[in-house]
Amino acid sequence: MPRIRIDRCVCKQISFTELLEMTHVLGPDIDLIALSTGASIECGTCRPWLQKAIATGEAAFYPEADSLPDGARLLAHFGPAD
Ligand code: FES
Repeated sequence: MPRIRIDRCVCKQISFTELLEMTHVLGPDIDLIALSTGASIECGTCRPWLQKAIATGEAAFYPEADSLPDGARLLAHFGPAD
């Protein structure tokens, strides 16, 4: 299975890069970022990854789809890395 590119809230089409920039103003509170942008509160699929982005400062993740229990669903949602 291919790698997944997880770098945005698909529902709101907001990149983690943009959302991380907002933490400079709003702080690292995911709920405040969610309320301000709508990111992570529609389907919620990006929420754990956005939380990880906030915690690490990384704006993109490329896990192997078959390394995750829900990899096939994530691949269909976010798309392949290549
Ligand atoms: S992908 Fe972010 S709420 Fe759906």
